[in-house]
Amino acid sequence: MPVPDDRKQQPKTTADAKIPGAYEGETVTRRRFMTASAHTAGGIATAAFTLPALGMAFGPVFEKEQVRWEAVGPTEDFPDDTYIPRTITLSPGIGEVGKSTVYVRRYNDTIDSEVKDEYNDYVAITSRCMHLGCPVRYVEASERFICPCHGGVYDREGKVSGGPPVRPLDRFYTRVRDGIVEVGPRYSLNSELRRFSPRDPGQAIDGVGQYLYPSRPSIRKLPGT
Ligand code: FES
Repeated sequence: MPVPDDRKQQPKTTADAKIPGAYEGETVTRRRFMTASAHTAGGIATAAFTLPALGMAFGPVFEKEQVRWEAVGPTEDFPDDTYIPRTITLSPGIGEVGKSTVYVRRYNDTIDSEVKDEYNDYVAITSRCMHLGCPVRYVEASERFICPCHGGVYDREGKVSGGPPVRPLDRFYTRVRDGIVEVGPRYSLNSELRRFSPRDPGQAIDGVGQYLYPSRPSIRKLPGT
């Protein structure tokens, strides 16, 4: 006598399974369908809020900055034993707020310890303090850059000689075109005046500092950085 095979009675696939109250052809329970729909809608809503915010936060980091050169005067305007202040535009299109003072002089073998190359025939030093960014002033009588905010003092090369600044004053690449000195991109230096891509005030470069405060990928590198 043949033994009944119960397995023949079992549905073979989910499609064959009869869902209570389901219409013909339904393969997913309504509860599961609603849950999946709610999760999908939640994911879309979350992405709609977070993606633009992330784009605004990280977009500028990867935006390439244009290399700009700005004329600051004829070569004969700049001696090699003191600085001449000039105003340059750091951020175009925002008026006076985007301007800053830069101190310029000719490279002097008896003063300068930065390695000489084609980009520093003229030394251009920022007026932005490397502690918190206050404007420093060059005092010719003492041959020092003085910061009025917290007593930061730099020697005439811009190296820190006192106070809280964490690195020498930043510099700008310079070049001469048709007898005119032009100031280009900014760069930072460690205490030995070795060049690095520009960092913000308060970011040390010596030792592990160069790894703690890496340069931004957007910054174009010139030789020597
Ligand atoms: S901002 Fe210059 S010493 Fe603090």
